[in-house]
Amino acid sequence: MQHLRDKKILLGITGSIAAYKSCELTRLLSKEGADVEVMLTEAAATLVGPVTFEALSGKKVWTSLWNNPAQPIPHIDLQRNKDLFLIAPATANIIAKIANGIADDLVTSVASARTCPLMIVPAMNVHMWQNEPNQRNVELLRADGVFFSGPVSGSQACGDIGKGRFKEPSEIVEDIISFFSPKVLAKKTVVMTAGPTFESIDPVRGITNRSSGRQGFDIARCAQRSGATVHLVAGPSSQKTPEGVIRYDVLSTEQMLDKVLELCKSNHPDLFIAVAAVSDFRSKTSSQEKIKKVPGVDEMTLTLVKNPDILATVAALDNGPLCIGFAAESENLINYARSKLERKKVRMIVANSVSAIDQTDNDATFVFEDHEEPLGKMSKEELAQRIIDKASDLLKEKVR
Ligand code: C5P
Repeated sequence: MQHLRDKKILLGITGSIAAYKSCELTRLLSKEGADVEVMLTEAAATLVGPVTFEALSGKKVWTSLWNNPAQPIPHIDLQRNKDLFLIAPATANIIAKIANGIADDLVTSVASARTCPLMIVPAMNVHMWQNEPNQRNVELLRADGVFFSGPVSGSQACGDIGKGRFKEPSEIVEDIISFFSPKVLAKKTVVMTAGPTFESIDPVRGITNRSSGRQGFDIARCAQRSGATVHLVAGPSSQKTPEGVIRYDVLSTEQMLDKVLELCKSNHPDLFIAVAAVSDFRSKTSSQEKIKKVPGVDEMTLTLVKNPDILATVAALDNGPLCIGFAAESENLINYARSKLERKKVRMIVANSVSAIDQTDNDATFVFEDHEEPLGKMSKEELAQRIIDKASDLLKEKVR
């Protein structure tokens, strides 16, 4: 799925050591479908050659206000019809100039002539970042409506450690995707579950399932991009936490329920989405020591007890959130999904076949009290966005 298809991005690169990372940034933006046009300051061009960016963007790279026969007034024409002007990396120097309206080269002239939004990705030494004039300039730019991506803390090219480091290109791309995402969940709070649970039997063994957590993490990412504050309660999963999502790791169903109820109490969410493939049963006892084989004994009995139902519990809360659940079944999918909807008293069930577990694609149907909406096969990420769009519609209806 290309998230930046048809987006025209003008990328200004300035003279920070991190300029080499903008090669990867250009590649990733193009991979997401963006039409990228690159400009280099004189200092940037001494660090990374324009030919590299010409190959990566497939376009002529601009380095000067002057001697451009094909583009006599580049500072006006280059930014015309662009969806975003991105400066990455941005030095303290360029930040200072733009904050104060100085236009003495191509990149700063484009910045002052621009009619499109500007996003700045700073990259500099920690002391330069903290320097008071720099902080004043950053505040001026924020007040002017300029967007910032980073900087982050970490080790720096000079050996110092601290804030000022260039954000990773993939994270910058995520910020840009978020920037362009319609904010259908602006000012909304979402609590959700994802991944499997792990019900321990002894210190090393337990009952779990093959859920990767991918669908839930994709939903969390889309909710975050759509402007929501997202609290994600995750069972054991190796999925990367989406940028900006607040993650709480738990193991068992009971821990998951406790965390969800605590979050519902303290955050009064608008929406609860139960995506976790929760274990229906847990072992009645969990041994403190590893269970040993006993010579001559060929059988062992494990007594299982029912776990609490997180979704039904949240759906029963007074003034609780709008609830969306999942049904993964191997047969009679829609019938089971509808009976789940009625039993748990939730607004919508996303019905999908168990074959979706651990896969990248899904083929789901939205099941409501009085009708269903089959969606057909799509990536889990695409389905995630459809769920968020539907949740936004349901929230507007104000019916739980
Ligand atoms: O009853 P069943 O497990 O089939 O229901 C599936 C839906 O209920 C999913 O949304 C799942 O996350 C949620 N669930 C839950 N707590 C449980 C069992 C399932 O929240 N103990």
